[in-house]
Amino acid sequence: MRAIVVKPPKPGVEFRDLSQAIRHGSGTVKVRIIENGICGSDREIVRGELATARPPEGKDWLVLGHEALGVVEESKDPRFKPGDLVMPINRRSYHGKCLNCLVGRPDFCEANEFVEAGMVGMDGFMVEYFYDDPKYLVKVPPGIADIAILAQPLSDLEKSVEEILNIQRRFIWTCDDGTYNCRRAIVFGSGSTGILMSLLLRTLGFEVYVANRRDPLENEAKITEEAGITYINYSVEGLDRLKQMGFDLVVDTTGASASLIGHEVEMLKPNGVLGLFGFPSEGALTLSNEVIQRFIYKSNVIVGLINGQKPHFQQALAHLAQWKATWPGVVSRLITRVVDVNDEKEVVQVLNRKEKGEIKVKIKWGQ
Ligand code: BGC
Ligand code: ZN
Repeated sequence: MRAIVVKPPKPGVEFRDLSQAIRHGSGTVKVRIIENGICGSDREIVRGELATARPPEGKDWLVLGHEALGVVEESKDPRFKPGDLVMPINRRSYHGKCLNCLVGRPDFCEANEFVEAGMVGMDGFMVEYFYDDPKYLVKVPPGIADIAILAQPLSDLEKSVEEILNIQRRFIWTCDDGTYNCRRAIVFGSGSTGILMSLLLRTLGFEVYVANRRDPLENEAKITEEAGITYINYSVEGLDRLKQMGFDLVVDTTGASASLIGHEVEMLKPNGVLGLFGFPSEGALTLSNEVIQRFIYKSNVIVGLINGQKPHFQQALAHLAQWKATWPGVVSRLITRVVDVNDEKEVVQVLNRKEKGEIKVKIKWGQ
């Protein structure tokens, strides 16, 4: 059984033939992998830079991959039958002693006892097939099989938006028509997280800006235009102008520099929220007393955003179906490359570096 394997904390990635099947929980459903998606976290592991990455107990290697679409091949569970398209959930509770874990929300694990497929103490999904627990499988509508791989990264964002809306229940954040269309949001970064977050906020009615420090590539220009999102090159428009405009919501998906986050804080309107997706591993965020004071007077909030769970996978799939119907052009541009798993050299290449203009790269295992 072929698998793509890493040995954190060591850098590197390799194909390996596994002698034993991968089994999670009850293992009553056998899933054959159709495709995997690649994200920044996979590349951090391959580069040996993801501090939280570790193999399952008792091994020095782990199967990579947390974004996967598969098909049920065998099932001892009446809820799944052979031929069903499914997607596995990546973060799972481990000992299940934490209350949030016990109610299916290890994204808010308080005991730090969760595992994450392909990252933290659990084999991932870049493998021909594996046996899984029905609890951690989500059914995928066949009509969106071509873009369904985006549901895992989108699930993180569905959860994040839910969390932000929960924070904002502290006052009235909706507008005079009950939607969010009088609220202005800016998303820093135009990679897959940035683009998906912008689309999701647009779907809820926000006036959305997506910012990067360069002009948009053709793909980005077409996506943002069709979805009614404004692309901003902040190296031209300037961060000061963005501070003057003011935003109800600022989301950083770049994780690029602590100093950018220092500027983002100053873009918040009263009651505004700054959401952080990943933080730079080096550098420090320094805020002057004046900025902190303004932060207090304006009731601003900074919130860390991570990991979606089963309800968020389901919402993500529903949104992908909606987007396919309303923004067909956008959706057709989100998968920027498909690599055949048999082309091992190319697989290793795409796992090592992000290419220019990349939104989502998939590794294709079969039909
Ligand atoms: C995944 C998240 C996960 C996070 C932290 C991301 O790449 O999409 O679901 O929680 O990494 O490990
Ligand atoms: Zn990811």
